[in-house]
Amino acid sequence: MNSVRAEHPAAGAQVRPLIAELEIRQRVEELGRQIREDAGQREIVLICILKGSVVFAADLLRAIPGDVALEFLRAKSYGQSQVSSGKLEILQDVDRDLAGSYVVIVEDIIDTGLTLHGLQKLFRARKVETLKTVALLLKPQQDHQVEVDYFGFRIGSEFVVGYGLDWAERLRNLPYIGVVEGSS
Ligand code: IMP
Ligand code: MG
Repeated sequence: MNSVRAEHPAAGAQVRPLIAELEIRQRVEELGRQIREDAGQREIVLICILKGSVVFAADLLRAIPGDVALEFLRAKSYGQSQVSSGKLEILQDVDRDLAGSYVVIVEDIIDTGLTLHGLQKLFRARKVETLKTVALLLKPQQDHQVEVDYFGFRIGSEFVVGYGLDWAERLRNLPYIGVVEGSS
């Protein structure tokens, strides 16, 4: 992959590659090993936060040796104009009782931290034994106090797509992460 701008025909947008497929793969493998090391022999319950985390979670799942379960949760956080309470609307919930479990929230990207703040509150209330968070990408500005145990890459404040991340539901299918630079 080079840094030449690529026209993406599916969206008519200019996407400048930022993090290459191979770089992502290597980082995800490191994260998987680290998460297992910290969990010891415990069963790890990965919570994939839909939809953006689906590609990351699928790769991370295969990078963690031993006993791993996968759950899905889809949530919508109230926007900036609302009171920043971290209140989430759950659109699709996990289908097991997580009390006493070793839980790892899998997020695609932390921007303001609002979504993660709400998710952490939710899972703590469910009396999980251990709550960890892994985010593939961290943006610089986090208005909401959140703890991220593991992350893949720090990026700038630019809008990124690919590897599950969308631009109005498009470009999730890019195998790398790129920056949207224009639209048609
Ligand atoms: P937060 O609640 O502000 O931290 O926002 C987190 C959510 O916003 C992520 O899970 C993404 O769905 C979305 N998001 C934030 N920044 C980006 C981006 O650069 N590209 C795509 N989605 C983003
Ligand atoms: Mg999204």
